[in-house]
Amino acid sequence: MSFPEQRPRRLRRSPAMRRLVAETRLHPADLILPVFVREGLTDPAPISSMPGVVQHSEDSLLSAAEEARDLGLGGIMLFGIPATRDATGSAGLDPEGILNRSIRAVKDRVGDGLVVMSDLCLDEFTDHGHCGVIDEAGEVDNDATLELYAEMGIVQAAAGADVVAPSGMMDGQVAVIRQALDEAGHQHVPILAYAAKYASGFYGPFREAVDSQLSGDRKQYQMDAPNRTEALREVELDLAEGADMVMVKPASAYLDILSDVASISDVPVSAYQVSGEYAMIEAAAANGWINRRTVITESLIAIRRAGATNVLTYHAAEVAGWLREGMAGRAAATASSGSAPAHAPIKPHTTPATAEPTDAVPTDAQPIDAESTDEPRTDAGFPPVS
Ligand code: PBG
Repeated sequence: MSFPEQRPRRLRRSPAMRRLVAETRLHPADLILPVFVREGLTDPAPISSMPGVVQHSEDSLLSAAEEARDLGLGGIMLFGIPATRDATGSAGLDPEGILNRSIRAVKDRVGDGLVVMSDLCLDEFTDHGHCGVIDEAGEVDNDATLELYAEMGIVQAAAGADVVAPSGMMDGQVAVIRQALDEAGHQHVPILAYAAKYASGFYGPFREAVDSQLSGDRKQYQMDAPNRTEALREVELDLAEGADMVMVKPASAYLDILSDVASISDVPVSAYQVSGEYAMIEAAAANGWINRRTVITESLIAIRRAGATNVLTYHAAEVAGWLREGMAGRAAATASSGSAPAHAPIKPHTTPATAEPTDAVPTDAQPIDAESTDEPRTDAGFPPVS
């Protein structure tokens, strides 16, 4: 049977119908907010290449964490920026260093209401900006770095991290951190492994965000963009080493990798929508070239559709706010009228050929998030909006 009996458009006619048949949804619990905390700041400092994102002071970090908890986000990922750096990144291992004391402070503030994750890597703490220590030949020394990661993992877990997230792409990092955590009595702390992390130009704005000291690149340890099969090898190794969750990073330009990884992984798969992905959306939106909210939502849906269990995104808090608004809006409409208005009729196609640039943007279209918002998931502890 085919046309005219078959008409796929039947299932697209109204927002309610599209919501019914949506194969992918977004929920606040699917979102993880990466945050930066900078030692010595009294006020949050804007990051020019990431409009809307700040380096937090130790104080403002706590408010951001509280907001993340209250929005029902899945988690928060902490990055620390120390006042002083050295060759071995010792500020990252100092229990009183900026990252470790912030883990403790955030955990004290939010309690068990939010999963607090910490970046387990040395690049923010080294004066050369690499993710590990440098050997005599000038290369990043894998095995010497592992010893520091092991110690760093213990310090972060002791500070109260609910999850540690090694992002340095050293061989064997998951095994070494797992063993160290277990020996120190932190058997219950999971490892979110940055398993397939590519050397990427999309990290550009992050370098400003953490005031990176790196010159050169990370191509000797992060993955090479042309490689797809190798991502499965990285994931399989991390799973064999005991990873509790695995990550693909960046997200949007690597959806094929994400899809492959999701198909072989028997643990949750995270995807990191990185700083450059954020910056590109913000820049285009600021120019009026795209509809900001539609594109943000669509990009996250795409990442989930490709197979991500959850997504790290700098838009996490804002999107969670939209999702909650959507739920509250539908609840209110249903309560007051008994039935929500069906849908705005689609305008006849009278758009002039010489439309203003902004006319190309469907600002009056039904926002995607209104359709893709699910009712509260009963398993997520996500309360109805009051
Ligand atoms: C390394 C790290 C990086 C990012 C997260 N962790 C930078 C890098 O690998 O060069 C990038 C995140 C982003 O771009 O948003 N600790």
